[in-house]
Amino acid sequence: MDGNGRWAKRQNLSRNEGHRKGAENIPRVVEAFAQYQVKYLTLFAFSSENWDRPPTEVGEILSLLGEAADREVEGLAEFHKKGVKLLHLGELQRLPPEIQEKARKAIDLTSANDRITLSIAFDYGGRQEVIKAVKKILEQKISPPILTPELFSSFLYTQHIPDPDLIIRTGGELRLSNFLLWQGAYSELYFTPVLWPDFSPAEVKKALLTYQDRKRGFGKLSEH
Ligand code: IPE
Ligand code: MG
Repeated sequence: MDGNGRWAKRQNLSRNEGHRKGAENIPRVVEAFAQYQVKYLTLFAFSSENWDRPPTEVGEILSLLGEAADREVEGLAEFHKKGVKLLHLGELQRLPPEIQEKARKAIDLTSANDRITLSIAFDYGGRQEVIKAVKKILEQKISPPILTPELFSSFLYTQHIPDPDLIIRTGGELRLSNFLLWQGAYSELYFTPVLWPDFSPAEVKKALLTYQDRKRGFGKLSEH
């Protein structure tokens, strides 16, 4: 979800207001994907590297997460009503304790929902995730011959969700920036200059139609 800052600048608003607008965009995008029967959606909200942004900006993004995960606030209740199951990818323990608690409760509240699984990558980094998996594998003394890609995948944050078919990046940059490095091995990539707060249901449709026309061979010979 890239481009909140540039969106704000164009409107002569503060970066924080851009993040607020970006957060407000999430429910309509989730609903659009759900209506197209996408079963798993992952949003990259905050990277391991984003901690190095100015403390005021980090604070604003954390408080937006806290609001979104609050049982008492309309947003979460709305997700729950619409059958959204919430998951978190990344390091929960580095977040403020009250946000960790809210996130755990939100995940628990929505755990039986099955219309769409919405994973929020927050304090997530792909390399960090791979290293963490390797450490666990070493600690568990998994013997090298039994280590397969499937077994490795079960040590990642994404153990409960499939690899992404499509990775969409808004905001015009043409890179993955440490997102789902292992899981994205065969993902189709879609880059759009549209800034995240402007990424509308019509843009969701455009991305899915583009995906529909891609030929996927997974390294084998695909039909041409
Ligand atoms: C994406 O918007 C949100 C986060 C990374 C938290 P940016 O803050 O990166 O927006 P730009 O790239 O400055 O426009
Ligand atoms: Mg950016």
